[in-house]
Amino acid sequence: MCGIVGFIGKNAVSNAMEKLRLLQYRGYDSVGVGFVEDGEIRIEKAVGKVDELSVKSESVRAVAHTRWATHGKVCTRNAHPHASGENWAIVHNGIIENYSELATGKTVSDTDSEVIAQLLEKYGNGLGSVIACAQKLEGAFAVLALEKSGKIYAIKQKSPLFVSEKNGEVVFASDPVCFCGFSDTYYSFCDKECAVADENGVEFYSFSGERIAKTPQTLAVEYRASEKGDFDTFMHKEIYDIPLAQSRIEQTYLPAFVSEVVSDIRHADEVWFIGCGTAYHACLFAVCVFEKAGVRCRAFIASEFRYSDVVPTKNTLCVFVSQSGETADTLGALEKVAGVCKTVALTNVGYSALASAVNVCLPTLAGEERAVASTKAYACQIFVFDILASVLNNAEPVMQKLDKNGLDYIFEEAKRVVKSFDKNELFVLGRKADYVTALECALKVKEVSYVNANAYPTGELKHGFIALIEEGTEVLIFATDPILYKKSLHGARECKSRGAKITVVTTEPEMFEGVGNVVKVSSYLCSVAFAFAFALECAKKRNFDPDMPRNLAKSVTVE
Ligand code: M6R
Repeated sequence: MCGIVGFIGKNAVSNAMEKLRLLQYRGYDSVGVGFVEDGEIRIEKAVGKVDELSVKSESVRAVAHTRWATHGKVCTRNAHPHASGENWAIVHNGIIENYSELATGKTVSDTDSEVIAQLLEKYGNGLGSVIACAQKLEGAFAVLALEKSGKIYAIKQKSPLFVSEKNGEVVFASDPVCFCGFSDTYYSFCDKECAVADENGVEFYSFSGERIAKTPQTLAVEYRASEKGDFDTFMHKEIYDIPLAQSRIEQTYLPAFVSEVVSDIRHADEVWFIGCGTAYHACLFAVCVFEKAGVRCRAFIASEFRYSDVVPTKNTLCVFVSQSGETADTLGALEKVAGVCKTVALTNVGYSALASAVNVCLPTLAGEERAVASTKAYACQIFVFDILASVLNNAEPVMQKLDKNGLDYIFEEAKRVVKSFDKNELFVLGRKADYVTALECALKVKEVSYVNANAYPTGELKHGFIALIEEGTEVLIFATDPILYKKSLHGARECKSRGAKITVVTTEPEMFEGVGNVVKVSSYLCSVAFAFAFALECAKKRNFDPDMPRNLAKSVTVE
């Protein structure tokens, strides 16, 4: 994870820091900047988010970093940039797997990254040293190396890196979103490529030193950095973005647009849905709706799948779900099946590694998602799956659209429920697709409010975890499936008889009268929105920042 920026041009330090702010979704436990001043490299670092560091400098060269710790605890010493002499300052995103073999002496930090600075000092100056260093490194790395001469060098292998240049200014970044307002064109680095930049522009080379000619790409509208607008957090704003995103999906996902994928699904022996975290929950939802449409399918957690013994046939269809399209485990899972069977991605980032590595890429169309907790992307993923399933069924999509009034009501209800919720533990129950919502709700609550929320299928109560239910235990039940209302009611009663405090989120409120708090919702998707709103309100009540929760990052680009 980690975000890296390099800037060549006027006010390089403040410009680099400004762009770094847009990359904080990649990690935000410490921050640092390296720049050249009076012919010397200066490095400033701080623990915390970008705003913790205030540096004034007229420098026209800077590299900056926002960290998500992998090697070494969060402290200024481990923050980037790292140096190992006077000639280089480096920022790194990724993991250097062979760092202990490469170390040329004692390191100051506990990071795997410092070895890059050591190697560069050892090899000397210029492109030759950078290439020699790149050839030694193993693992995933996007590196920017600031040389005392003022040149910035870049190295890329498996971690994302982009560059844009205009009128003598150059910007390197982990995400093209940093080019908004700078230029409409940029270059993507491929694996095993490096570059050298100064005020005359950028030159690209392979790791074996051959010059590479690259074609610029155009910055698409989807890369435009979004703002919070009238909302106090991105998570709140992004939940309210769902109705507009749903309209985009409806306009795009017309039968002709999905015909290839639908035909692939029809003709596959089995469809496997693969993802991590929330994206995995979308996979579970996909299984619910596709099984209903008569498709044989399975969902896998990508990190487990990649090391499992399951083997696809050439008629298996593998669908990878990922908001970012950058998740290392999902990409690892894709590597396992690439070339064996047809692969499809459902991703929100059209320029991501996942999008370019699959046979067919479906857009999630959620628009930029900044909050670490994924809300609108999940809503869009399940909306897309619902549409695909309906085309397979030759039926109308089942899922209803959200609207602003409906969301206002859901937030009022979430506030009401959260008001009396003050425990550090929560049981979240549901069956079938409602169990998927329970899983998603529990994950969101854990992520943003640090409450130990755990989801279970309601029917599993009596097979074990009912032992944990006692006087005052908080239980949240999702019940929107008419076939299972009665079964959910049994579960609610079983918990209530043991003193639990019940909240039921349901499309059939009358049935649950008397068991506890009842939240009436008008559709399945409203119950999902309630899960998001509930988690957000829990975070707010506890004064936590839901957009940047502790220990997390939005793009999980390490294994
Ligand atoms: O970008 P991806 O969808 O591949 O990310 C997968 C998970 O890391 C992600 O969904 C994570 O669980 C979210 N923080 C959940 O809110």
